[in-house]
Amino acid sequence: MDLKEAARAVRENAYAPYSNFRVGAALRSEEGQVFVGCNVENVAYPEGTCAEAGAIAAMIASGAQKIVEAYVIADSPDPVPPCGGCRQKLSEFAGRDVPVTLATTDGAEFKTTVGDLLPGAFDAGHMDRT
Ligand code: THU
Repeated sequence: MDLKEAARAVRENAYAPYSNFRVGAALRSEEGQVFVGCNVENVAYPEGTCAEAGAIAAMIASGAQKIVEAYVIADSPDPVPPCGGCRQKLSEFAGRDVPVTLATTDGAEFKTTVGDLLPGAFDAGHMDRT
């Protein structure tokens, strides 16, 4: 399945009545499966969740755990940058070289990687004192 089309399609289902900013995300797991997510806002604003978080939750719920490619799309003037929390969430399940495409609904794309999105990422090694 095409990640771009999957992300574009799931974005239509976003629940974003407060920001009116709908985001779609699609991930491919190492098994080749595609998982999608959209942002889900809440009247208690901090309870809202990002598109990337939804896609990651769907992947984990299905039993897959390794991301090999990601695509994020929004109706933004420039290709939408994932928020800081989502960069950390992607980093949990993807290597530094995993490609991430950021896109606008108008068709602009910016290709980057998980490592470039989160330089100096905190990982389990930083808790190792032995
Ligand atoms: N949003 C995402 O879904 N992903 C991001 O990486 C950036 C922000 C959502 C959260 C909120 O529902 C809306 O965009 C505005 O911040």
